[in-house]
Amino acid sequence: MGNVRHFLSVTDLAPSELREVIARGRALKAGEPSQALAGKSIAILFEKPSLRTKLSFEVGIHRLGGHPVYFSPEEVGLGKREPVQDVARVMSRMADAAVIRTFNHGILEEFSAAATIPVINALTDGEHPCQTLADLQTIEESNGSLEGVRVAYIGDGNNVAISLALGMASTGGHLTIASPGGYTLPEKTVSDVAPMNAKSGGSLKLVTDPVEAVIDADIVYTDVWTSMGQEEETRIRLEAFKGYQVNPELLDKAPAGVRFMHDLPAHPGEEISDGLLTDPRSIAFDQAENRLHAQAGLLHFLFTGA
Ligand code: NVA
Repeated sequence: MGNVRHFLSVTDLAPSELREVIARGRALKAGEPSQALAGKSIAILFEKPSLRTKLSFEVGIHRLGGHPVYFSPEEVGLGKREPVQDVARVMSRMADAAVIRTFNHGILEEFSAAATIPVINALTDGEHPCQTLADLQTIEESNGSLEGVRVAYIGDGNNVAISLALGMASTGGHLTIASPGGYTLPEKTVSDVAPMNAKSGGSLKLVTDPVEAVIDADIVYTDVWTSMGQEEETRIRLEAFKGYQVNPELLDKAPAGVRFMHDLPAHPGEEISDGLLTDPRSIAFDQAENRLHAQAGLLHFLFTGA
């Protein structure tokens, strides 16, 4: 509505803005003082479980001088106890921004269309753009540059992969996704990233062989095979993704110096081998910490324009 900036998709930030947000996240991490949210209250409404997203938003808002108001999945009944648009209207009258985690991406679009405050996507079935902010910050810290970095994403072409593909296309990285047939990126994402890559110099390659993906990778990234809300597909997915586990043997096929990332929570024994998160090549916990800094960078941008 009007001039309100929402962050529902990575593409809601222009490439230069995305870089600005990441730079701000890094500056805040390095100790830059900011009270960008002084006197502001931010509603946080989650319809799915969360550890990192809830913690990082609450702590981040607090550090920027704001006040988080958290609603658990049982409390609001978005679209059930009360129409989605009415929740958006009420929150807009009292809070200064809304952070929402829900199932269908369309619910978030409906919410943001009725909201007069910034709405931030804290994960939907369609995208996880806050994760991508932290991912890009982590990749930049690890690799020195986003432009030209080679990332191999092994596994499901899900919300995390979609946002990562958009983020890397915006910043000029080379992404190879290895997935079994039927689980690669949606066609819409593939066509969305093509013109972005043409501009940024990045690239996207879809393959089925994990070894082909990691062979020249600076970073190997994976996510769960069964996302929240897909639990009834667990058995079929365990079968489909056999052979797509990231483990030390797969990392050994990548160049020396490769780093491993996972957005967490992980399911050891499924998409990763036991102990991989604490392998010397893993930067998964730096990545988790960066949720705090990158989202603070986003909030800073939304409230100050810089
Ligand atoms: N793809 C996962 C990400 C969890 C942070 C899910 O949607 O459950």
